[in-house]
Amino acid sequence: MFQKEVYWQRRKRLHGLLGDGILLFQGNDESAMNYRANTYHYRQDSSFLYFFGIGQPGLSGVCDLDSGEDILYGDDLTIDDIIWMGEHPSTADLAASVGVGLTRPSADLAKDLQQAIAKGRKVHILPPYRGDNIIALAGLLGCSVGEVDKYVSEPFIRAVVELRSVKDEYEIAEIEKAVDVAHIMHTTAMKMGFPGNFERELAGAIEGIALSHGGPVSFPVILSMDGQTLHNHDHSNELVEGRMVVTDAGAETPMGYASDITRTFPVGGKFSDRQRAVYEIVLKANMEAIEHTKPGIRNLDLHLGAARTIAAGLKELGILKGNVDDIVASGAHALFFPHGLGHMMGLDVHDMEGLGENYVGYDETVQRSDQFGLAFLRLGRALKPGFVFTIEPGCYFIPALIGMWKQEGRHKEFINYSEAESYIGLGGVRIEDDVLVTDTGHKVLGTPIPKSVADVEQTMNS
Ligand code: GLY
Ligand code: MN
Repeated sequence: MFQKEVYWQRRKRLHGLLGDGILLFQGNDESAMNYRANTYHYRQDSSFLYFFGIGQPGLSGVCDLDSGEDILYGDDLTIDDIIWMGEHPSTADLAASVGVGLTRPSADLAKDLQQAIAKGRKVHILPPYRGDNIIALAGLLGCSVGEVDKYVSEPFIRAVVELRSVKDEYEIAEIEKAVDVAHIMHTTAMKMGFPGNFERELAGAIEGIALSHGGPVSFPVILSMDGQTLHNHDHSNELVEGRMVVTDAGAETPMGYASDITRTFPVGGKFSDRQRAVYEIVLKANMEAIEHTKPGIRNLDLHLGAARTIAAGLKELGILKGNVDDIVASGAHALFFPHGLGHMMGLDVHDMEGLGENYVGYDETVQRSDQFGLAFLRLGRALKPGFVFTIEPGCYFIPALIGMWKQEGRHKEFINYSEAESYIGLGGVRIEDDVLVTDTGHKVLGTPIPKSVADVEQTMNS
């Protein structure tokens, strides 16, 4: 947990951004996996963590915009809880640790909210994303499940996004810790990337590294020789020479901050000529996008720059043809780069995605495209100092997509389908770093993780 002043200041700034009514931060509760007492890994809600800092279940926070008071709702442990789970600080001590002076029992929350609503006061909530929370909110607000959405407040969302988007020095230090754990995860995976090992052994080892550093992984490990499947969670293959492994994995710090790193390496520790050719194209796109990162530049333009680099590289390989700008304008390159360049990162891997992607990544000056590929760009707007985001270009040979487009004759003036088909089996390449926008440019966060061909091969063979 940060110093209590950090949370107090964040709530004070939030009060200053909003008008009147009551802001409700619903904390997450335990969630049953296969029976009540056997729960999924517990994760507190990220906006609750940002403003109230306490990573344990059974709590809700309220900011009363009219009185200026902040209140923590929760219950002290019973003797049964203590027997099974040990001693924990009281609700009052927890509240004091984040600069909140007032506490009330959980049972009072529904009564307090419904009294406020009856008096015509506005209750603001953030978009709920768990079924159990939606049901609980209906009870708290005294409405049906279907009516909960009418309390979701756009001004509240916008204020939270404004504050959470700009990371302070303490948050940046936390994210760097998470990237440093990812460094160990990824170099370990590289060193295990030899024939005879199974993907599951690499995935298990790197998940264990995250756990051994105090946090879980920040999202389920993506690790596969079938890297053409963008988010492949199947780890059943035995590694074989001639294939590449895409590993997209990060750690979460005990305070909830994420890293999100992707590396691609050749099984056996040596890229083939074809693998290296595609890898170098993606690496160039990654490094140029990083190089151009500075305040004011739109991430949409970084994405389009990466798309042009990938298109130019694929043209040199004979997979694409024609003018590079025309290829990118048409969207033909998205057959091979079908996702966005990256996303905001912080307490969530896709930071604040639960609040609504377009509030986070777009604004009145940059609208989301509906073109295939570009439509998946989560962050399009101009970058500001303090933003932390990912830069993760990729190039994939997806048999079903190549087959579908070929059959439709889509963009056949730009795509050499027979050459593209000859790359099926190469899988995919993605290279992802976590980048901070500074006042004058950028900083790639954490200890550098090998990514040049020479560094990846050297790490694998060391
Ligand atoms: N690391 C997974 C993603 O960015 O979607
Ligand atoms: Mn990512």
